[in-house]
Amino acid sequence: MKKGDSHRGNDNGEKMTLVLNTLEGDYSEQIKELLAKKNSEVEIVNTAEMKIAHCVGCNMCWLKTPGVCAIKDDYEIILKKIVKADNLWVVADTKFGFVDYRGKQVLDRIVPMLNMYIEIRDGWERHQLRYHPLNFGVIYKGNGNKELLEEWSMRVARNMAGKSLGVIAMDAPQTNANGNVAETAMGTATETAAGAAMGIAAETAAALPEHIVILSGSPRVKKNSNTNKIIQAFTEGLEAAGITHKLYSLSNRTEWDEAREAFLTNDNIIIALPLFVECLPSLLLEFLSTLPTKRPQPAKLSFILHGGFDEGHQLRLCEKFLQTLPAQLGCTFGGTLVRGGSFMLRMWDNSYIRKMTDKMLAAYTEMGKSFSLNGNFFTPEAKKFTGYEKNPKIGVLLFNLIFKRIVKKNFNRMAQEWGCTRPLDDKPYGE
Ligand SMILES: Cc1cc2nc3c(=O)[nH]c(=O)nc-3n(C[C@H](O)[C@H](O)[C@H](O)COP(=O)(O)O)c2cc1C
Repeated sequence: MKKGDSHRGNDNGEKMTLVLNTLEGDYSEQIKELLAKKNSEVEIVNTAEMKIAHCVGCNMCWLKTPGVCAIKDDYEIILKKIVKADNLWVVADTKFGFVDYRGKQVLDRIVPMLNMYIEIRDGWERHQLRYHPLNFGVIYKGNGNKELLEEWSMRVARNMAGKSLGVIAMDAPQTNANGNVAETAMGTATETAAGAAMGIAAETAAALPEHIVILSGSPRVKKNSNTNKIIQAFTEGLEAAGITHKLYSLSNRTEWDEAREAFLTNDNIIIALPLFVECLPSLLLEFLSTLPTKRPQPAKLSFILHGGFDEGHQLRLCEKFLQTLPAQLGCTFGGTLVRGGSFMLRMWDNSYIRKMTDKMLAAYTEMGKSFSLNGNFFTPEAKKFTGYEKNPKIGVLLFNLIFKRIVKKNFNRMAQEWGCTRPLDDKPYGE
């Protein structure tokens, strides 16, 4: 056992495994059986009985009260257990082939396990660990897309500097009348969406938008949301081309009924969303799961996907998942505009950074104009818009030599302005 690990595991030095069961009901026996070969000491927490809210992306756990979530609910009990664990499993039902919003919710709230500081780890931009590496796995019920869940599990684990423990289906695969394994909703949807993507170029000219419904999928309040800034810039481009729009912010639950109605009665819809723990924010997953799968009239659904880190690759799994959604909601697919580096949009007052964010927002305005002309995000300019997939070697070198320290200093200054009185890498729950 490494120095510093001594508080984790049992007296025999066995690793401590925490299971968050987000299913309603007690599945303890089945879970223990599924994990019997993999883990010896297992603690199961049934979260369906607990009060757990969606992460609202307020950044308090990074910049104001390092390591402590601002939402005062039962998740703090869970967080304290995660700090003591080596392995984390989430047991969840599935929706749209992915974990449902309850399963995603307990992951979105895990962010205090990391701190604000950024480093390049295993070749990618990462947040520093606040505590220790954590392995991660998924046990799912229902019709999940195993391949997608496996990649998600691996990505989540790597963010925590751990390994994927794998993905386990609780139910036996469903077979059809011929005895063949039934296709998952995702598999079918992926093909339908890909087909729609191909067909869309031909129908584009006839389907240019006049009015667009835009849903902001950010859980953060509108005035503080980077997604909202991006939407503002994008719609300037639409307006310049004479296209009207109506925006609904899902962070405000009182807008949900109207947003649902608008989704069902309009033919051109864009959902703009921030990347949360490698996929959709749990709040957006919850909203989507309240939509009927059949709609009264066809519609085209496109996405604007952005995330904190700069590298395009960080957003690709979520992009893959988004491609499957329109068909599952009775829509055709209008493509996804993908770009990282959005973390700083709302936060900086430094003039150099302001220049960079202004440039980024101006680029979104151009994409608004492009969408007006093409009606989708399948264009070469949309593809190019992402920028680089991975930091070039020279970028990594410069980051490690120069920028890392500057970024750290800026984060410290920002924290001071937020009234933070603790170091940003504080460990409030031990170690
Ligand atoms: C809970 C949470 C999880 C996040 N996960 C990721 C991630 O996996 N990858 C990434 O690049 N950015 C991630 N981010 C950063 C956000 O995508 C980014 O800050 C975005 O600009 C937030 O937009 P908003 O202000 O509209 O919510 C995460 C942020 C939060 C709060």
